[in-house]
Amino acid sequence: LISRAMRQRFVIPDFTNFCRDIEAIYWHCKSSAGGKVASYIPQLARYDPNFWGVSVCTVDGQRYCIGDVTVPFTVQSISKPLTYGLVLDELGEDMVHQYVGQEPSGRMFNELVLDHNKKPHNPMINAGAIIVCSLLQTLAHKEMNLAERFDHVKQYFSRLAGDEYVGFNNAVFLSEREAADRNYALGFYMRENKCFPTKSNLREVMDFYFQCCAMETTCDAMSVMAATLANGGICPTSEEKVMSTDSVRDVLSLMHSCGMYDYSGQFAFNVGLPAKSGVSGGMMLVVPNVMGICLWSPPLDMYGNSVRGIQFCSELVNMFNFHRY
Ligand code: DON
Repeated sequence: LISRAMRQRFVIPDFTNFCRDIEAIYWHCKSSAGGKVASYIPQLARYDPNFWGVSVCTVDGQRYCIGDVTVPFTVQSISKPLTYGLVLDELGEDMVHQYVGQEPSGRMFNELVLDHNKKPHNPMINAGAIIVCSLLQTLAHKEMNLAERFDHVKQYFSRLAGDEYVGFNNAVFLSEREAADRNYALGFYMRENKCFPTKSNLREVMDFYFQCCAMETTCDAMSVMAATLANGGICPTSEEKVMSTDSVRDVLSLMHSCGMYDYSGQFAFNVGLPAKSGVSGGMMLVVPNVMGICLWSPPLDMYGNSVRGIQFCSELVNMFNFHRY
């Protein structure tokens, strides 16, 4: 990094000007008022709709942020690509995909539906992420107890974030567990269809899934996670290899096709970059080999994506040529 700095060979050569443009888009999006803060988890409904943060971390570790970038929020569905990456690292693609597919479902993220092989369509929707949690619990690190496994996942998230803030919001965990009829229904439906590996305990799997969703982070820390994915699994700030290169490829491929709920196709068409959103209004956007961006603004559109986050992405690719095609 120092040698690149000395040679002035950064991936974004004129970072100051780039940041000025990001700032302009930020202010432009700030004035958008549409969308509704998620309310199905009571603790999420308390978030101020005015929160709006943008953090950028390049693969060289250059940073820029503006707005509410140090306010903690729960990762929710953005945990899905991260736990998927972890299970790929630990069990390998072949084993993982015996239990979960790679196709977009074309349905809501929490819909009671399996593919024609009676597997969840992909790991980015609830059914698939619940299966990923069951694989982490029963097949990977069999020696770990529940507490150790929780720490293991949390530490993995922290390492992806170069040791920046990753915490756990117990109130959100408890609140979600109380309001989780649909997720339990999915769990029972999948158990009926023999989707889980033998020995999984449904109650423990569901708790583990809610715990992963209730991990807490900030825009700043999440931009580093996104940058680690942009950088082939090597965290640009700690320089640690956290995720294997093959896992990163799989994670980004499915973020590209399935990361934005039922808007994934349009997002892939218009923005052309891998991304994942969550109901807390967070969004992780990856520009492979260039940078990771985290956007956070709680009001959501009809698909469940952050209104300001989506607007930011489309203005970003209008201004710069980041669309993969
Ligand atoms: O399963 C749920 O309802 C949430 N905890 C996560 C939802 C979320 O962010 C949407 N996911 N695809």
